[in-house]
Amino acid sequence: VKHLLGIKYLKESDIQLIFETADHFKEVINRSIKKVPSLRDITIANIFFENSTRTKLSFELAEKRLSADVINFSASQSSVKKGETLIDTVSNILSMKVDMVVMRHPNPGAGIFLSKHVEASIINAGDGAHEHPTQALLDSYSIREKLGGVSGKNVVIVGDILHSRVALSNIFALKLQGANVKVCGPKTLIPKHIESLGVEVETNLKKALNWCDVANMLRIQNERLDISYFPTTREYTQQFGVNKKLLNELDKEIVIMHPGPINRGVEITSDVADSKQSIILDQVENGVAIRMAVIYLLASKIKQ
Ligand code: CP
Repeated sequence: VKHLLGIKYLKESDIQLIFETADHFKEVINRSIKKVPSLRDITIANIFFENSTRTKLSFELAEKRLSADVINFSASQSSVKKGETLIDTVSNILSMKVDMVVMRHPNPGAGIFLSKHVEASIINAGDGAHEHPTQALLDSYSIREKLGGVSGKNVVIVGDILHSRVALSNIFALKLQGANVKVCGPKTLIPKHIESLGVEVETNLKKALNWCDVANMLRIQNERLDISYFPTTREYTQQFGVNKKLLNELDKEIVIMHPGPINRGVEITSDVADSKQSIILDQVENGVAIRMAVIYLLASKIKQ
């Protein structure tokens, strides 16, 4: 495999290989070894056509910890603003002898399109409402770390499933590993026929939380939202927001996840986000090891 375009294209064994490789890098980082010389002859371009905090910084840090040369491109400060196309932009970057491109783009399938037109290895860092594969990998890795495995665990993904690339990639990853998955949110924010992916729909949040071991809370993707889809923010929070009182009423203690950015007080209150049940910052920490693993494994194909 030369690219990471989506979880849809992976096998369960690929995920396990990524996790085992991430285990190794996490152990190295925990020994305070901040840099390994693995990718000294590899150059990576991070090209972001959409805003990002976690993914962009996490990829850059992962690349630097592997000793790769790194260049960063942000569309808002580039000649894209003067009308340059995606292919021209990337072809120009690649002519500077870049081996790998990490790309975030608002259009679903942008990474797939690019992989058909350029020689470099492509990693999808989020393409519209389609996939966010490294987020799903770090999410499953964090569940494995917290609960000892993913297979057989009950995971509910709560929120704007319709517009969420995190939801789709998580569904693919969790199902591949044998987890049971439900989605929960307003009917207008759940894709039609989502059951065909092997997930159940539960519109009652308390029932969903009582069923699950893990709740992955998503924000409303306001940037992709048609207003007709949506209840008011207040109505949404009343029906689908998780707060401490609700958690205390459950039969058991569940694990709380969130890919970020959090809209505190909307999908999740601060006392939940910052509680000991929350592994939100563990997810961010694990993102670096997971991205080191993905880059390292793909780079080994380039070197062959
Ligand atoms: N989880 C995630 O993709 O966050 P950013 O948009 O900040 O990268």
